This record gives sequence, C-alpha cells and structure tokens, in this order.
Amino acid sequence: MSRKKADEQKRMRSAEWFGREGKYGFIPRSWMRSQGFGPELFDGRPVVGICNTWSELNPCNRHLRELAEHVKRGVLLAGGYPLEFPVMSLGEPLMRPTTMMFRNLVSMDVEETIRANPIDGVVLLAGCDKTTPALLMGAASCDIPSILVSGGPMLNGRFRGRDLGSGTDVFRFDEEYRSGRLSKEDYEEAEAAMSRSAGSCMTMGTASTMASLAEALGIALPMNGAIPAVDSRRRHLAEEAGHHIVSLVRGGMSISRVLTRAAFENAIVVNGAIGGSTNAVVHLLALAGRLGVPLSLDDWDRLGAGVPCLVDLKPSGRFLMEDFFDAGGVPR
Ligand code: FES
Repeated sequence: MSRKKADEQKRMRSAEWFGREGKYGFIPRSWMRSQGFGPELFDGRPVVGICNTWSELNPCNRHLRELAEHVKRGVLLAGGYPLEFPVMSLGEPLMRPTTMMFRNLVSMDVEETIRANPIDGVVLLAGCDKTTPALLMGAASCDIPSILVSGGPMLNGRFRGRDLGSGTDVFRFDEEYRSGRLSKEDYEEAEAAMSRSAGSCMTMGTASTMASLAEALGIALPMNGAIPAVDSRRRHLAEEAGHHIVSLVRGGMSISRVLTRAAFENAIVVNGAIGGSTNAVVHLLALAGRLGVPLSLDDWDRLGAGVPCLVDLKPSGRFLMEDFFDAGGVPR
C-alpha cells in the first residue's frame, strides 16, 4: 500500500469497521459480503452514505431512489464506495398533525444512523419541505463531509393553457367550485393537472427555498434548487455530487467548515433576493444551533431588510420554478 493511501485510510471512519484485524473486522466484512459487495469496500477508499428520504407516502420524494443511482455512479467514478440507507420521510400532503412535529426526530434518525455506521461522508437526498432541514441538522451534528442533493421542483402545472402553482391555485379552484363557477368535472381535471410530474412544489415555497438556500450555504451544487425534478440535468447534478463528496472526504472537509457564520449570512441575503419562505428563518436558526454558529432573529432583520426581491414567483408573485430555472436560478 502506498504511503498516501495508508494515510488516507488512517483518516477514514470506515477503517474502524472494515480495516480491523481479527473478529471485529471479520464480522462487518463478512456480513457486507453477503450483499455481493467485493473487497473494494474494505480497501480504505471513502465509504459514502446516501441518506434517502424516498417514500411512496411522500410523493414529492418518490423519485429519489432513481436519483440515488446517479449519485452512486459519481461516487464510484471518483473512487469511493456508495452505501444507500433510508431514513424517515416527511411528506406535507399526507402527514398529520404536522410534519414539523417530526423534523427533529428525523434529524436524530440521520445523526444516529451516520454515527453508528462506517460512513466517511454523506450525500443527503431530500425534497419535501422539512426533509431538507432535518437531514442537514442530522449531518451537522455528526460533522462529517456532507452534500445535499434536492429532488427538484415538479413541472409547472398546466390547466387550459394556464400555469398552475402547487397549493396556491388550490384555494382559488376550491372557492370557484363551492360557488358553482367551476363544475365537478373541471375541478377534478384541475386536480389532475396541478401535480403532473415527480418533484416538490414548483412555487417558491419551503421546499424550493431550502433547496436554493442550500446553494447559498455552499452545501449543495449550483442550480440545486432550480433544475426540474424530471430534467436530465438533475441526474447529472446528482452524479456530480457523488463525485464531489469523495473529494470532500479526501480533503477532510467536514460540514462545519462549510456552514460558517459567513455562509449563513449569505443565505439570509439570498433568501431576501429570491423572496424565500419565512420558514427558512426557523430552519436556518435550528441548523446554526447544531453547529454552534451564533445566529439570531436580529441577523435576519439586519442582513435581509434592505435586500431587493429579484424573483417574481408564486405564492407571492406570478411565475413558477420552471421559469426560475430558465432564468438561471440562484447563480443568476
Ligand atoms: Fe412536498 Fe410541497 S408538499 S414540497
């Protein structure tokens, strides 16, 4: 083994499981071999966890198993070894009484799964509103190299030549139906036309806000927020993230070196510029708390108050995430 590789292996958490002599190395290696994994998993290369919130109970995240395959290809191409694992998923449309009740529970699921297992770095696959802060908070508590890949927004809804925004237009249709201005058939047609692809809500709601702010925080690749869920470029972004996490692990770039006070300040400014969700305040304060980064409501006032809103997206404006993507997303 070359000196460089030996040094690298010494730094890897996974070597504590796979690099050991005797029965404490035999047991993890032997059982992992039962899945058909070869000796490459044990040779000291970075082991990358892919933390997946895929669930058919969370329609916004239902395509994340496929996206995970693209992350895996990137990890393998960069010389790492990917291992995918599930955590609890939080889907706004179904969960009662509210997903917010479970955000911290999911962050504990993420944290304890990472801590308890031979994972050197992690790619976080999130989408629906609370899944993003929950996964970031869990990874932050472990302070290992991490990168977020969002599922991306669904395509714009289309109904009789008009764009429909997730959630926003439901209220209008409901009032028109109840007042007799919309027939039952039309109401049902609108229901089918609003959510017409995989992905999260395509307004600048909490999901798109958090996916965009992840770029501003430096914990996701550029365009993470805007590329539509079903666009081939999101798959390529997932592959790039797989590539990138391997270099972060090799460079010892833990999450606390990325999510600094300056990164949070940048995210606050970007939130003002994109007209992001007020829920971002709650989630970013919690994330900063996990890292011991001082951040307060006063910071939001001081840094965000004078920022002009540059984006005209629903629910407050006119357009949708596909338009934001066409306009160049957060980097623009
Ligand atoms: Fe999942 Fe809106 S309901 S992102």
